[in-house]
Amino acid sequence: MMNTADKKTTVLAFTGKGGVGKTSLSAAAVRLLSEAYPGKKILAIDADPAVGLATALGVDVDFTVDDIRKSFVKTAESGNTSAAVELLGEAKYQMFDALKETGNVSFLAIGRPEGAGCYCKVNAYLKEIISMIAGNFDYVVIDGEAGIEQVNRRVMEKVTHLILVSDASKKGLQVTRTILTVAGEMVMFDKAGLIINRLPDISVADRLDTAGLEILALIPDDPGLAMNDIAGDSIYSLPGSSAVIQGAKHALKKLNLIGDV
Ligand SMILES: Nc1ncnc2c1ncn2[C@@H]1O[C@H](COP(=O)(O)OP(=O)(O)OP(=O)(O)O)[C@@H](O)[C@H]1O
Ligand SMILES: [Mg+2]
Repeated sequence: MMNTADKKTTVLAFTGKGGVGKTSLSAAAVRLLSEAYPGKKILAIDADPAVGLATALGVDVDFTVDDIRKSFVKTAESGNTSAAVELLGEAKYQMFDALKETGNVSFLAIGRPEGAGCYCKVNAYLKEIISMIAGNFDYVVIDGEAGIEQVNRRVMEKVTHLILVSDASKKGLQVTRTILTVAGEMVMFDKAGLIINRLPDISVADRLDTAGLEILALIPDDPGLAMNDIAGDSIYSLPGSSAVIQGAKHALKKLNLIGDV
């Protein structure tokens, strides 16, 4: 298989405990990269079966990685080997068909497999798909599922920038540390950094144990984002001055991914 995820593709992954702001920050990163680089191609991947990034980006999903997986399984089960092989050959095109394009942003969702058994399989598909198509984009932003599973299964294998997101809680930072340890063993990344989100008070920042990670941004609790999400509006409805957009911008600047835009 051709590995097109070469050096020129920057792959950012947002990981961390549940509910800490991974999806909001992934969406903000997609918005900022697409605005900073109108001529570049960006791929946004919703790797969470709970499907949050689609809403955050205002995208309707009609075909997912899980649908691709199902069509393979069906062909293989029907015993039609030549068709299965044909399908494999065409897989790349199928994947591009599954992308939803809006301007310079393409969107792909993992989808939600039914039944407990097949979940790790869909992660395996996602991993393959990322290696197959990432090279066609300048930037890939992955909104990860909460916890360590996708890091452990090397779904995050091609990641160049691992962004750990946590709230200020000890629990959140512990999950961050675990992910960092697992990622250190399982995946190659160029840079890792930490975003602390929903800080009740900026003064607590000094007291946090950040596992030696560089702090990319400290983001306060932002009622504007909460209201935006209650309304089900996308990240594009938020003013550029909002805390989550500003925080994401700060983080991308620290990672040298955007300049002073
Ligand atoms: N800085 C913030 N201020 C206020 N609310 C926030 C902030 N960041 C995130 N939220 C709210 O917290 C909730 C979870 O955010 P988000 O969906 O981005 O987190 P997540 O890590 O992707 O969650 P999950 O693990 O469930 O996918 C949302 O309702 C969002 O509006
Ligand atoms: Mg999410």
